[in-house]
Amino acid sequence: MKNALSLDTVRLADNKKEIVILDQTLLPNECKYISVATAGDIREAIYSLRVRGAPAIGVTGGYAYYLLAERLETTDKQEFIKECTSMMEYINAARPTAVNLSWALNRMHSRMLAELENHSIAEVKEILLKEADAIYEEDIAISRNIGAYGFRLLEEIGKGVGIMTHCNAGSLATAKYGTALAPMYIALEKGWDGKKDMHVYCDETRPLLQGARLSAFEMQTAGIDTYVQCDNMASYIMKNGKIDIIFVGCDRVAANGDFANKIGTSGVAIIAKHYGIPFYVCAPSSTIDMTLESGEEIRIEQRKPEEVTEMWYEKRMAPEGVGVVNPAFDVTDHSLVTGIITEKGIARAPFKEAFLEMGIRPAEKFVDK
Ligand code: MRU
Repeated sequence: MKNALSLDTVRLADNKKEIVILDQTLLPNECKYISVATAGDIREAIYSLRVRGAPAIGVTGGYAYYLLAERLETTDKQEFIKECTSMMEYINAARPTAVNLSWALNRMHSRMLAELENHSIAEVKEILLKEADAIYEEDIAISRNIGAYGFRLLEEIGKGVGIMTHCNAGSLATAKYGTALAPMYIALEKGWDGKKDMHVYCDETRPLLQGARLSAFEMQTAGIDTYVQCDNMASYIMKNGKIDIIFVGCDRVAANGDFANKIGTSGVAIIAKHYGIPFYVCAPSSTIDMTLESGEEIRIEQRKPEEVTEMWYEKRMAPEGVGVVNPAFDVTDHSLVTGIITEKGIARAPFKEAFLEMGIRPAEKFVDK
């Protein structure tokens, strides 16, 4: 099986008319790329988690904006703005919790509006392509920086470190390297031995198994000593002294440091606090939503009951007609967070002040207001 780092999560096709996506619903058993070009197919790919992870859906949002704007035939600027606005709202509705999707769409829209004042629509389309490429390239650089800051924490603990992670915030969740898994990729680059110097424990991550399918695939194919445990085994492993540090990704951070990440994250943080294990959140600054004061304001995506009762099972495993809850994310209180690792450095409490000091400010919003 290929090293996950050698796989492109999402990119614009060479013909610049399609987005090429590694279909993550098929991993780890099959590495298959799909091409999406229409608004409906792009939205479906995001909703169905063929492309997933906050930064990766941000990159997809940037290319989606370019592709769909490029295809508009109007030469009337007001009409162009109207069409772009409705297209952006349509794509943004695919997933509500990760701020990166709306962040990327808002960034593209803001650039379009600014450039349209002095350029033709044809010129603006060229500029939008460069902007989408910039989001992609920046994401790679940001992930590497987060990895470098995270690696310093691993160095402080020393070789032989035990790391726990939840969901997948790896290369597959970004343009490359990831956030929560980036420190381990950097460690390998620095010459750490994947089999001896670090041991990575991946929460299975019910119900969609991003930990078992994706993080375990990434860490194992990178040559790292990797384990998968069911979510309800996290406390057992922490109690047995296997874990020195926890790295998780996130989908949206509020100004006070509360953050939304894959369902189950808050439980991991609560258990970590009990055992005194440092708990770090890895977040590109684009994931920090300074327009929200606290996690109470974060909208949590609710998904289909079948993901809990049927998916992955040969036969349905819960009684027909039973009620099902399926929130895709939960919010972890900032009091449980040791630090938030961004590309600009590690923020520590009080988080709002730390974010402002790093120059992180509320972004302009046209969607997801
Ligand atoms: O539903 P998913 O698989 O998109 O959820 C992903 C997560 O929760 C990740 O931890 C988060 O998006 C950060 S990815 C760098």
